[in-house]
Amino acid sequence: MVDAVPYFDLKRQFANLRDEILPALERVCETCAFAGGPEVKAFEDAFASYCGTTHAIGVSSGTSALHVALRCADVGPGDEVITTPYTFISTTWAISYCGATPVFVDVDPTTRNLDPTKLEVAITERTKVVLPVHLYGLPADIDAITAIAAPRGVTVIEDAAQAQGAAIGGTRAGGLGRMACFSFYPGKNLGAYGEGGAITTNDPEWAARAARLRDHGQTERYYHDELAFNYRMDGFQGAVLAIKLAHLDAWNRRRAEIAARYTDAFASTSLGLPTVPDGFETAWHLYVVESDERDRFREHLQARGVPTALHYPVCLHEQKPYQHLGYSRGDFPNAEHLAGRVVSLPFFPEMTDEEVAHVIDAVRGF
Ligand SMILES: Cc1ncc(COP(=O)(O)O)c(C=O)c1O
Repeated sequence: MVDAVPYFDLKRQFANLRDEILPALERVCETCAFAGGPEVKAFEDAFASYCGTTHAIGVSSGTSALHVALRCADVGPGDEVITTPYTFISTTWAISYCGATPVFVDVDPTTRNLDPTKLEVAITERTKVVLPVHLYGLPADIDAITAIAAPRGVTVIEDAAQAQGAAIGGTRAGGLGRMACFSFYPGKNLGAYGEGGAITTNDPEWAARAARLRDHGQTERYYHDELAFNYRMDGFQGAVLAIKLAHLDAWNRRRAEIAARYTDAFASTSLGLPTVPDGFETAWHLYVVESDERDRFREHLQARGVPTALHYPVCLHEQKPYQHLGYSRGDFPNAEHLAGRVVSLPFFPEMTDEEVAHVIDAVRGF
């Protein structure tokens, strides 16, 4: 029996990978390929093949991936980019960095992702991109979104930061939109040992531009084609990510196993539970329930050694940097409802069966 469970524990993963990781880090030190280089290239090739895309471009974070992708779509001042108000704020940072305006569309209360039925009315002559987020690992309904966006000349770019390994009808996240953006923040399903991100696409021109934009706009050293960034992935991250990519499917299977146990055990409770529509495969990045009595529920769990987290307590239209957009409370009722009810439970592949059982007992005890 255990009497406490960590919310998350990366040390266990390192203990399992130590003998693979340390020699790879040593190799980077010995070759001194610290910024970009062969380890990054090898990871990019492996990640493109994993996502089923022709190109993957390693970058310094998920945020920089989004910024570069929007620049590939020529998003700039005066343009609008449609996204969900219920995501991590990086999604809209990237829009703002381009000088464009985020336009929000409410989420579907069951998938918690951008609701395609509310998309059409939000599209204007200024809309350049729709940027749906695969929240908690579940792909947004890209087919329905594309059916509305494409005839209106609006490009679909995926925020796949939380969705490494997710798929719709067998097509992996990364290959669902014109371009996709991943984060390898350490806590992600595929996490770096520091910051990291990637862009995937099947479009050779966009891929070439993304590769230039992350590297000062250079095609040739010291010849700069356009205003660009230093968003390169570093060699250590390429080496670590290539090793970890080989384990991703097994980790995701273990996540799915734990999720299935949670869902079975909580079916008879009053909690709102994650749902996965037919034909969709979630990466199970987080396991998020909804409670009408969130504070009391969290206190109950904490007292039983079960820490929890909130992803996310405040919608983006209610965050301080976005007050100028002029939205107010009530504009996105489904997102606001979620923000007041969600609770993320302990959930990571190295959790033991005993720990899973302990979480279940604590939740059911409420
Ligand atoms: C949905 C979403 N988009 C973008 C990002 C940004 O990624 P990063 O932290 O690597 O910049 C994150 C990271 O948490 C995310 O969850």
